[in-house]
Amino acid sequence: MIHINEVPLDFEPRKKILSKIPAFPPEPEMSEFESAFLCGLLKICRPKKILEVGVAGGATTAIILQTLEDIGESYEMHSVDLSEKFYRQPKLNTGFMAAFAKEKIFGDLRGMHEFHFGKYLPQVIDEIGGEIDFVILDTVHNLPGEVLDFLAVLPYLKIGSIVVLHDVSLHQTEYPNAESNGMLLGAVTAEKFLNFDEQALFRYPNIGAFQINEQTLENIENIFLTLILRWIYMPPENEIVIYRRHYKRFYSAELCEIFQEAIDMNAYNFWQARRK
Ligand SMILES: C[S@@+](CC[C@H](N)C(=O)[O-])C[C@H]1O[C@@H](n2cnc3c(N)ncnc32)[C@H](O)[C@@H]1O
Repeated sequence: MIHINEVPLDFEPRKKILSKIPAFPPEPEMSEFESAFLCGLLKICRPKKILEVGVAGGATTAIILQTLEDIGESYEMHSVDLSEKFYRQPKLNTGFMAAFAKEKIFGDLRGMHEFHFGKYLPQVIDEIGGEIDFVILDTVHNLPGEVLDFLAVLPYLKIGSIVVLHDVSLHQTEYPNAESNGMLLGAVTAEKFLNFDEQALFRYPNIGAFQINEQTLENIENIFLTLILRWIYMPPENEIVIYRRHYKRFYSAELCEIFQEAIDMNAYNFWQARRK
């Protein structure tokens, strides 16, 4: 089922925290509307264990922390990024804006927040642990991209968990390859949440969310099958090994076989195209 305009947008946490930390455009990479959707969902869901994958400068991390602090309950939040250095400005650390906010603005947090940089999600997810009830995926946007991390984190989510996807319509802009999150939102079996952005050129938003239910797990082959689509980039061998090993722990032999077929076909096509 799809729920449209049911999330009460909350613009306040972003205004509150961004007015206190040095600006670093284009951080955060979410628009005000997208941040308001994320903060509104956090306010209604009041999650206890939050996982963010894809941090960049950390402005969105700071906005999430502000929202959690405003909710006023204890929480545990983990922010994961493959890069230790800010991908737009390698002189700076990934998450530098959130690190500033933690040190200079928030002081002692009500909850606990930890960064995990320089590793793929499967390399840190056991340390983070299960019972995660709110996830934000915002990394590559090109296939296989976030689909890999959704499959990696799913076994660690509770039924009822919320997964927020940024850039679900980025492929309709000057980035036509950025389809992974739109595809994931379309293919997953779940309760789906979108708010229309009436101020934008097109009101279909660039952020969406879904809520995990029993059928999400029963129909997970649909997500493995999206990986048969043509990948936009070929992950390095070590990344493939890490994800394949992780999936073998949680998914059936048949689903792991589909994953292997997707790897084989995409690797073949990728290297064929390079040879031309
Ligand atoms: C679009 S930016 C994130 C923007 C951020 N969420 C925001 O709202 O400002 C993408 C980030 O994902 C990270 N990234 C790319 N591939 C990744 C992967 N496989 N796992 C974790 N992080 C990844 C990049 O280093 C980069 O910092």
